[in-house]
Amino acid sequence: MFQDQVAIVTGAGRGIGAAAAKLFAQYGAKVVVNDLDAAPCAEVVAEIKAAGGEATAVPGSVTDPQFPDQLMQAAIAAYGKINILVNNAGFTWDGMLHKMSDEQWQAVLDIHATAPFRLIRAAAPYMREAAKAEKEAGGPVEPRCIVNVSSTSGLHGNVGQINYATGKMGIVGLTKTVAKEWGAFGVRCNAVAFGFIDTRMTQAKEKGETIAIGDKEVAIGIPNQMRQMAPMLIPLGRPGTPEEAAGGILLLASPLAAYITGHTLEVTGGAGI
Ligand SMILES: NC(=O)c1ccc[n+]([C@@H]2O[C@H](COP(=O)([O-])OP(=O)(O)OC[C@H]3O[C@@H](n4cnc5c(N)ncnc54)[C@H](O)[C@@H]3O)[C@@H](O)[C@H]2O)c1
Repeated sequence: MFQDQVAIVTGAGRGIGAAAAKLFAQYGAKVVVNDLDAAPCAEVVAEIKAAGGEATAVPGSVTDPQFPDQLMQAAIAAYGKINILVNNAGFTWDGMLHKMSDEQWQAVLDIHATAPFRLIRAAAPYMREAAKAEKEAGGPVEPRCIVNVSSTSGLHGNVGQINYATGKMGIVGLTKTVAKEWGAFGVRCNAVAFGFIDTRMTQAKEKGETIAIGDKEVAIGIPNQMRQMAPMLIPLGRPGTPEEAAGGILLLASPLAAYITGHTLEVTGGAGI
C-alpha cells in the first residue's frame, strides 16, 4: 500500500506513533522515526529492520525551532523524498483553568499546534513545491499527504485540559487550512481524533510516570478512576490499542483515501456519538 513511499512519524518512540511507524513499514514505506527520547526511537527502528523493513531514527524535540528543518533534511538525505508526514508527538500537562500557568498553557500549545505548523512549513519544499513542479511538468505526481493527530478532548472539550483541548482543536483548523492551500497541488491533509487509547499518556497517573518539559518533570497519565469508568462510556466497551489507533492514521494516508482531505476522523470505539 505504501511501497516506495517515505513516511515521517513524530513521537514514534512509543505508543501510537511507534505502532504507526511499524505499520507503515509493514505496508512497504520507508519510515523516518522521530522521538524526543533517542533510546526508544532506536528500538523502533531496530524492530522495523528486524522485520525486513526500512527505517531511520532522527531523535530530537519537535518544539525546538531549528529541528523541523533538520528532520526534513535528514529524511531527504536518507530517502530522497517525503510522501507522508504524521504529526503525532505529544504530551499532556493537565490542570484546571483557574490554576493553569502561562508556562503550562504555552508548552502544550507549542507541542500540539506550533510544532505541527513548523513541521508542515519545513516540509513545504518537499511536499507543496515538489508536487507543484511535477504538476507543471505534466508528469506523474507522487502521492503526498499529512496526517495530524487530534483528540476528542479538542473536539468536545475536557475538564482539566484547557491547554490540550485548545491545541487539539487548533490542529483541526490547521488541517483544514493546509487542505485548502495545498489541495491544488494534490497534497492532502487530514486529522485523526483519538478517544481513549491505551498508552503511556493514558496510564494510571498513580503510577507516577513523568515527562521532562524544560526544567520540569511533569506528571502524565489519567486518574485510575477515570480509566475504570471509560469502558462504560465506550460502545466497543474498551480502550483502543496503539495498533488500532495507528490503523486510523494509515487509513487516511492510504491510496483508498485519495479523495479525502480536510477531514477529521474520530477513532474512538464509538465514544461520544
Ligand atoms: N492515548 C490517547 O488516549 C490519546 C487520545 C487522543 C490523542 N492522543 C494523541 O496521540 C498522540 C500520541 O500519544 P500517545 O498516546 O501515543 O502517547 P505516548 O506518550 O505513548 O507517546 C507520545 C510520544 O511523543 C514523544 N514526544 C513528546 N514530546 C516530544 C517532542 N517535543 N518531540 C518529539 N517527540 C515527543 C514522547 O517521547 C512519546 O514517545 C499525541 O499527540 C496525543 O496527544 C492520544
